[in-house]
Amino acid sequence: APILAPDLSKCHEVAPVQGDPINCCPPFSSNIIDFEFPLNPKVKVRQAAHLVDETYIKNYKEAVRRMKALPADDPRNFTQQANIHCAYCDGAYPQPGFSDTEHVVQVHQSWLFFPFHRWYLYFYEKILASLIVDLDPDFTIPFWNWDNPKGMTIPSFYAEFDSPLYDTLRDPNSQPPKLINLNYSSDGEIPVDKTITPEEQVLSNLRVMYTQLVSGSKTPSLFFGCAFRACDTENPGQGSVESSPHGPVHVWTGRPWGGESHGEDMGNLYSAARDPIFYSHHANVDRLWPIWKSLGGNRRDIDDCDWLESEFLFYDENKNLVRVKVKDSLDTKKLGYVYQDVDIPWLRAKA
Ligand code: C2O
Repeated sequence: APILAPDLSKCHEVAPVQGDPINCCPPFSSNIIDFEFPLNPKVKVRQAAHLVDETYIKNYKEAVRRMKALPADDPRNFTQQANIHCAYCDGAYPQPGFSDTEHVVQVHQSWLFFPFHRWYLYFYEKILASLIVDLDPDFTIPFWNWDNPKGMTIPSFYAEFDSPLYDTLRDPNSQPPKLINLNYSSDGEIPVDKTITPEEQVLSNLRVMYTQLVSGSKTPSLFFGCAFRACDTENPGQGSVESSPHGPVHVWTGRPWGGESHGEDMGNLYSAARDPIFYSHHANVDRLWPIWKSLGGNRRDIDDCDWLESEFLFYDENKNLVRVKVKDSLDTKKLGYVYQDVDIPWLRAKA
């Protein structure tokens, strides 16, 4: 059976990995509406972060500033939005019918990873757009194009100190113009990246992409991750992209672990979405889903009803609590967006 929408009244405090206990439950509502597709949606384009113009950046900053300025108990508030990730990732919701700590709704390390994050960004973007209807009613979030050499640094507008898009809890060694390492791991097993040249780093990143998207994920289960159904215990197994480069980008961006740091913000599930860059990181992960499907062979969506019927709850831009299903997330055009067409050099980077 599929994992159905959690019961918000059962949401409880969580103890994140090596962090302090924290309550990241959303405001309660028992009034749930079922998702319906917008009629004739205008299909908008999510742009690469390194390609947007000044006006776009100004509007984006203003949208996030307004989101942060909403009342703390407004489900659209930025911290509330960040808490969604914490609640769905650190076991705040028991699976319907369970009350133990093993049968929780966990959207990582399983086939829920791609659809959950797609829905999450969908509502986050709707809320931002609704907050700047006066400036850009067609606003879309930008994607961090870390799989293209031109996008392999933290996008400049995330790195300005006095911006609503800035976050103090990042690794100082990962600031621009430092190139990202898509193989990054904090455990020291990977050779320290400062010993390699920028050209070598780019090549290594493109090879990671090729391995994870082309040679290493020829079937739906390799790409999406293992089945996770009602009554299963969490973390059955992650798909290729979730494991890398998704994970390394998180850890590379957040503070190094040690002392008071538990990898915050980006490097720990409970805090990751407190960094505005999270949503651009995940937009790029989301972008890889249709790209992967377009590569042919057996690369297609899962046809198991337990996946298709899995559910999540999100508050929308009108503060309505909406129940969504995985099956309604499969076509981004029906949700009203596509990704800007940019060169994909890793398709030619066979290792
Ligand atoms: Cu929900 Cu990038 O993790």
